[in-house]
Amino acid sequence: MRIIVVVGARPNFIKVGPLMPALGDAGIDAALVHTGQHYDAAMSDVFFSDLDLPAPAWFLGVGSGTHAVQTGTAMMKLEELFSAERPDAVLVVGDVNSTLAGALAAAKLQIPVVHLEAGLRSRDMSMPEEVNRLVTDQLSAMLLTPATGAEENLIVEGVAPERIHFVGNIMAESVLRNLSRLEGRDIAAAEGLPDGGYVLATVHRPENTDHPERLAGIAAALAASPLPVLFPAHPRTRPLLAAAGLSQHAGHVRLTEPVGYLDMLALQRGAAAVVTDSGGVQEEACMLGTPCVTVRRSTERQVTIDVGANRLVPADDRAIDEALGAALESPRSWEVPERWDLDVSLRVVTALQSGIIGPSGYEA
Ligand code: UD1
Ligand code: UDP
Repeated sequence: MRIIVVVGARPNFIKVGPLMPALGDAGIDAALVHTGQHYDAAMSDVFFSDLDLPAPAWFLGVGSGTHAVQTGTAMMKLEELFSAERPDAVLVVGDVNSTLAGALAAAKLQIPVVHLEAGLRSRDMSMPEEVNRLVTDQLSAMLLTPATGAEENLIVEGVAPERIHFVGNIMAESVLRNLSRLEGRDIAAAEGLPDGGYVLATVHRPENTDHPERLAGIAAALAASPLPVLFPAHPRTRPLLAAAGLSQHAGHVRLTEPVGYLDMLALQRGAAAVVTDSGGVQEEACMLGTPCVTVRRSTERQVTIDVGANRLVPADDRAIDEALGAALESPRSWEVPERWDLDVSLRVVTALQSGIIGPSGYEA
């Protein structure tokens, strides 16, 4: 079986970390295409080295742009690639614009689409990712779900149950596979932060960055945190922080460039709590036993709230302050969600080997 695996943005690289070796071990011929949606060394290269990922077979150089420009450019380049290569399937991961572009380009060429991380829903159509998830899942021939609840979401939307496989969360497998590699990573100490005595923050969702009053609310809450805060800022967020009231050395908030994957896991493990709007960080904090405060209007990672690892709050300084206080007081133990384990990539292989049911009409 020949598969092309599409990646483009930071969370995509992590999702294929455990997947590529598992596909190779199973004798599946899988090649990576990198759209180039993320391109800075700190947003792309570092993940290939941290995760020992093979260099992409193709790099498309799509870069930044509006949603239509970015998605459309990726589609045009992927269409050309898929037409030349005619793989048996195209596998897409997550919910970024590169995911949608890969699914659309493949489906129109009648190449079956496999979606890893299918069925997550925030029910907030103002999120670009929710649009990407809905469309990608409708186009997918095989839907690989990460958590309980995802299958029900898909069935309600009319997806045939025989197309859905509950494989578990590949982000969780990646955390577990990399735990032993965190030893000796002392990035918190290098920043002068005591182990277990700081808060780690990440913010990059447009619902926060593109609303000055929300970003200011988050900035105010971080500035008032009872513990020092380390904030590796996404390139989307960085230029907006000064106007929101956070400068390089605002009180005890330390702004840094984005950090690599292993440093990020080490920082999450050593933090007293995490404040974030990231999807992946909600999951990783849950795996690493660190209480999480998610600053958003909704979350598609409801399962992390259900197990007691995560709290959802609006971008309001008092609400964040209260939730952070509660998170810092809360016990650091909970049951991790079902199938957030080391066997996710093996379940993906088993699903692929069971045969992809072609979309209706392709045989005509
Ligand atoms: C994208 C995903 C989001 C994901 C996030 C992960 C979509 C719609 N959004 O958001 O779901 O959570 O990636 O990080 O696909 N930039 C750089 N260097 C880079 C990449 C981006 O400077 O290497 C800057 C550019 O100014 C760019 C902006 O960040 O315009 C946004 O990048 P983009 O890929 O469009 O969206 P993200 O906010 O990164
Ligand atoms: N991450 C990282 N360095 C950072 C911020 C995030 O390695 O400075 C990792 C994080 O640990 C997780 C992934 O990037 O594995 C999540 O990506 P992001 O928050 O950008 O996207 P989302 O998951 O929200 O789509």
